[in-house]
Amino acid sequence: MQNKQLLLGISGGIAAYKTPDLVRRLREQGVTVRVVMTQGATQFITPLTLQAVSGHPPHLALLDAEAESAFGHIELARWADAVLIAPATAHCLAKLAHGLADDLLSTLCLATRAPLLVAPAMNQQMWQATATQANCRLLRERGVRFCEPTTGALACGETGPGRMAEVADIIAQLSTLWRAPVLARRRVLVTAGPTREDLDPVRFISNRSSGRMGYAVAQAAQEAGAEVVLVSGPVHLPTPTGVRRLDVYSAQDMFNAVQQQLVNADIFIATAAVADYRPAQTADEKIKKTAHSLPLALERTPDILAWVSAQSPAPFTVGFAAETQQVAEYAQDKLARKKLDLIAANQVGLPGQGFDSDYNALQLFWKGADEQLEQQSLALTDKLSLARRLIQQIAHLYAQKSPE
Ligand code: C5P
Repeated sequence: MQNKQLLLGISGGIAAYKTPDLVRRLREQGVTVRVVMTQGATQFITPLTLQAVSGHPPHLALLDAEAESAFGHIELARWADAVLIAPATAHCLAKLAHGLADDLLSTLCLATRAPLLVAPAMNQQMWQATATQANCRLLRERGVRFCEPTTGALACGETGPGRMAEVADIIAQLSTLWRAPVLARRRVLVTAGPTREDLDPVRFISNRSSGRMGYAVAQAAQEAGAEVVLVSGPVHLPTPTGVRRLDVYSAQDMFNAVQQQLVNADIFIATAAVADYRPAQTADEKIKKTAHSLPLALERTPDILAWVSAQSPAPFTVGFAAETQQVAEYAQDKLARKKLDLIAANQVGLPGQGFDSDYNALQLFWKGADEQLEQQSLALTDKLSLARRLIQQIAHLYAQKSPE
């Protein structure tokens, strides 16, 4: 954190009262902080307080001739090594999502190349509102980092998600943002999404995978400096910035693409929910509903992950295990059977996490020194934050296995 330059945007929420402490702790760690306050923020906390703790007068207005001649807004945007908005109100997030630039803070966010980190804080209903969540999704897709709000008693008297993340957590996220890219020069191949196995020209067998976890993993690997190829089954998701995406349809297509792309891959991460079985025969014409019942003969699809880990040399191989029961047991069995370097297990079928959700929790298993089974739990959070933690652990284990 030493010698880093942070632009701290404060928008108008009650959590603004925590920002002097945030600034003070950042400065203790060697960070230079310049503060930008929205009009609303000045109703909750005085500019003089922020001036005292940051050592610089806060920037308050866009159209201020005096401020512009001293340290203009474009200069400020270039100066920042990162922009942090804490607290970020619903209004502030909406403005960012729509690219508005009607005050100093929103203008700076458009004018900077620095990474943007936001710490939302608001009433729980406002946080859960469809519009707010849609804005957040859009911002995440564009690479904005989130210090997720926590659940608890809110200033408005309600209880729920919407409390600004703790100051210590915000600082921890900021330091991750500034850490050297852990996967620089590494090639990572990721599979994601479901596959479709055709019964006839109009029907197929598939599953409920949305592809979100795999896309988050691809994005997190790219952010960590890796060159990422994403082999994706049919999903409705935008390609993460900087990631090369190859679209496939069936398990066999995915297998073919992985076989082609595996050359030079250092790490293979199989998040795809590949169909385990496909119809033994695909009808050329639509099957008519003439028979009373219709037995379906199915055959196994190729196990892509097992094939990859059996290669010599094999890349660092990571599998996923989505289970509805006995998660840890099945995952450990899969780790051994498929000869994986790491397995990430999650329980599916729980409300609000896993398939088709933005949130997930993972339990990681791998073999440590002396073949001892090691594990780590990654608590329930949004899939991108989870993917970033997973990538940190993968990079750590990869570096142990293949020291430079
Ligand atoms: O054996 P199971 O399907 O539960 O294993 C799950 C893991 O194996 C996931 O990482 C999944 O992406 C991968 N897999 C695969 N090819 C298959 C089936 C699963 O790569 N045909």
